[in-house]
Amino acid sequence: MAASESSPLDRQTTQIFHRPRRLRRTETLRRMVRENILRVKDLIYPVFVMAGEGQREEVPSMPGCYRYTLDLLLDEMREVERLGIGAIALFPLIPGDLKDNAGTESYNPKGLIPRAVRAIKQAVPDLIVITDVALDPYSSEGHDGIVRDGKILNDETVAVLVKQAIAQAEAGADMVAPSDMMDGRIGAIRQALDAEGYVDVGILAYSAKYASAYYGPFRDALDSAPKFGDKKTYQMDAANAREALKEVALDITEGADIVMVKPALAYLDIIHQIRQATNLPVAAYNVSGEYAMIRAAGRMDWIDEKRVILETLTSIKRAGADLILTYFAKEVALMLR
Ligand code: PBG
Repeated sequence: MAASESSPLDRQTTQIFHRPRRLRRTETLRRMVRENILRVKDLIYPVFVMAGEGQREEVPSMPGCYRYTLDLLLDEMREVERLGIGAIALFPLIPGDLKDNAGTESYNPKGLIPRAVRAIKQAVPDLIVITDVALDPYSSEGHDGIVRDGKILNDETVAVLVKQAIAQAEAGADMVAPSDMMDGRIGAIRQALDAEGYVDVGILAYSAKYASAYYGPFRDALDSAPKFGDKKTYQMDAANAREALKEVALDITEGADIVMVKPALAYLDIIHQIRQATNLPVAAYNVSGEYAMIRAAGRMDWIDEKRVILETLTSIKRAGADLILTYFAKEVALMLR
């Protein structure tokens, strides 16, 4: 090219028509053109409950997160409601002597979860209570299903999950959330709920739940790590995306009210694709390992923790999640005030 001719690139640098920076000039302008806004109403707070009285134990790998006995949990629930958080997801710590291979304690109508649900609905009736449907906290094997000869039985497990969901509905759960990844459980639970008259109890389906290393701290919290092997014969392979759409389609056909992706951060593309594929609300679970990593770096003063929390949750929202389960819910509610 001769020196006198200017290349298109040179022209662009001397004559700029588009200046996107105009809209970033002041905070008011930035707010006007902001596309996604994280709100307190988007948050669902997962909480751990244990038997006993007057106790609160910090989960070692989740600083700032506690297991509460029911009495103290109720105080926590009142605070959650005051903060404007609409819903909680309940998880139990079950003592070893109540665990067995069939997860029998999971459908005990006088068990920890049914008692907790009744107490919470009585103390804070407007708070939406979501209960987890899966055997792992109740399983002597630490698996989400019944084990025989080293294999996880599907249909036998679904029969137990149905009883568990009914016990939770009977206690007053607003929504049940099957997190077990057995085939066909959404349909079986929907049918049973309807047959028992719980037509208004919803199903938040863990539809695309991956076999993830990010669940480690949660399993510490509930003492629920698998006693052998891993969960790869039922939870999804981290490398798969189309399969997530298949799982979502099945759960919708079977009667899910809300579909969920879990974990969130390493699966933002999955959240995005599912958002395009359905008109149902989409939830994402910002799981224990995601929480622990931010906390750890924050405690070391290696990151600006509060800003990283907001940026992270906003990314999950931007990817397409309407609802976010996060252990940060309370402090985010305070930050958004
Ligand atoms: C089990 C269940 C798990 C979580 C929620 N429900 C762990 C697992 O599948 O092993 C993990 C949540 C978290 O890591 O925060 N049904």
